[in-house]
Amino acid sequence: MNSLCVSVSLWLSVQGQPQRHRDTEDGDFLTKNTTQTKPLNVLVMAAGLGTRMKSKRAKVLHELGGRPLIAHVVRTAQSLDPQSIVVVVGYQAEEVEKAALAEVGALASFVHQTEQRGTGDAMECARSLLENSDSLLLSIYGDTPMIRAETMRKLIEHHRSTGAACSILSVRLENPTGYGRIIRDEHGQFQRIVEQKDATEEERKVREINSGIYCFETKDLFDALKRVEPKNEQGEYYLTDVAEIILQTGRKVEVFVHTDARELSGINTRAELAEFENLIRRNAVRRLMLEAGVTFIDPSHAYISPEAEIGRDTVIYPNVAIEGNTVIGENCVIRSGVRISNSKLGDNVTVKDHSLIVDSEIASNCSVGPFAHLRMNAVLEEKATVGNFVEVKKSRLKRGAKAMHLTYLGDATIGERTNIGAGTVTCNYDGTHKHETIIEDDVKIGSDTMLVAPVRVGSRSVTGAGSVVTKDVPPDSLVAGVPAEVKKKLR
Ligand code: UD1
Ligand code: CA
Repeated sequence: MNSLCVSVSLWLSVQGQPQRHRDTEDGDFLTKNTTQTKPLNVLVMAAGLGTRMKSKRAKVLHELGGRPLIAHVVRTAQSLDPQSIVVVVGYQAEEVEKAALAEVGALASFVHQTEQRGTGDAMECARSLLENSDSLLLSIYGDTPMIRAETMRKLIEHHRSTGAACSILSVRLENPTGYGRIIRDEHGQFQRIVEQKDATEEERKVREINSGIYCFETKDLFDALKRVEPKNEQGEYYLTDVAEIILQTGRKVEVFVHTDARELSGINTRAELAEFENLIRRNAVRRLMLEAGVTFIDPSHAYISPEAEIGRDTVIYPNVAIEGNTVIGENCVIRSGVRISNSKLGDNVTVKDHSLIVDSEIASNCSVGPFAHLRMNAVLEEKATVGNFVEVKKSRLKRGAKAMHLTYLGDATIGERTNIGAGTVTCNYDGTHKHETIIEDDVKIGSDTMLVAPVRVGSRSVTGAGSVVTKDVPPDSLVAGVPAEVKKKLR
């Protein structure tokens, strides 16, 4: 077949050389048993739009558990320790590539399929990358995010141990409609895969379906692929046809029957996406309750990333979202309406209602909220307190510092035990650049103080209510006014 494929954005060395090693006794080169040591490559088909998603976004870019579908698949593939992961991209190729690279970096390489002419054509796109490689090729789909590494490992093991040229992962379904069927002879021996649209009445009754996950001897696959023709109902190049072709050449085709249909099922619609989201979330909550000892007041209204870690006896109220790689310590209380994303909380932290914490760090025994916003590496050291309607951006509150009401702290360092009065603002932006505010230890910032950065307030100083501080305040001084002037020395 000739394919409408544009070649290769990244060429990684995927040529699997048979491993040779020197026999120290007689100096001969021996070639190792290659079926045992053959390297693995993974191919991920992800060129399609996914029409049934009714979206302008490529299906594999839709998110599950906070990560694109393609990210789930390549991460699982990575855990098999392959030589390379070749992703077939087409629709929104650039974004799909970005998502895969963000997950597995240079392990991924990409081939472009400009027109979707079937799964066989998608595979054909990877020919130049893989054809001469003496390796195994595991072929999976980018829209099958629940697939477990263990299942793929079992398929590969089965493939290796049987010496097959092609091994197909199958599963039996109550309702096999739409899938390719596994057709076996009267002895139960595999014959071929027939697609729903090409199947006879009789064949459609078969409940055993092709999951679309295969392990191939790479060379046998690409040899067989040359003989695939689009002679079917859909006029497509079917990858499934290679199984029968390989069988005809006298090589072995194995079918490995899996029992968990859900794990193998791809996502086709938003309804299915939501179902899986629910499943992932329920699993995460269950694991945290049973293994980590976390209390959920209402497990069905907790939105917890599968990557999150939460410590013993922490209590999570309803409608809390914990996203990304968040780590929360023991004995914390997270009240309703809170969202915490990619952040780290120590022990005994209370986060009151409707607070948003992103990319930030909160040490033990701190209190945050209600209605607080911490972002861009806000850091609260032990016993620091941030109260209602306080925004903390890229700032550090040292041990025991407090900002209780209606305050903006941006690009600031707040010293130990310092108290920030209500309505205080660090004026950190001059329209072009951001500037730093440093407030030293044991300072009392009066209500409604404007700190025009860059500016420093020395230890134990006090600013009067409504001060506009435009220049550095020495230690032990009381300043007030607009602009603020030293009114008296405190020591
Ligand atoms: C395929 C199998 C079918 C199997 C089913 C399992 C074939 C001919 N049929 O059918 O036996 O039961 O998967 O889900 O292989 N893709 C591309 N480029 C293409 C075509 C597809 O990248 O040209 C990608 C799609 O984006 C999708 C995946 O491959 O992620 C599967 O393609 P799809 O057209 O959905 O295959 P099915 O018809 O479901
Ligand atoms: Ca499909």
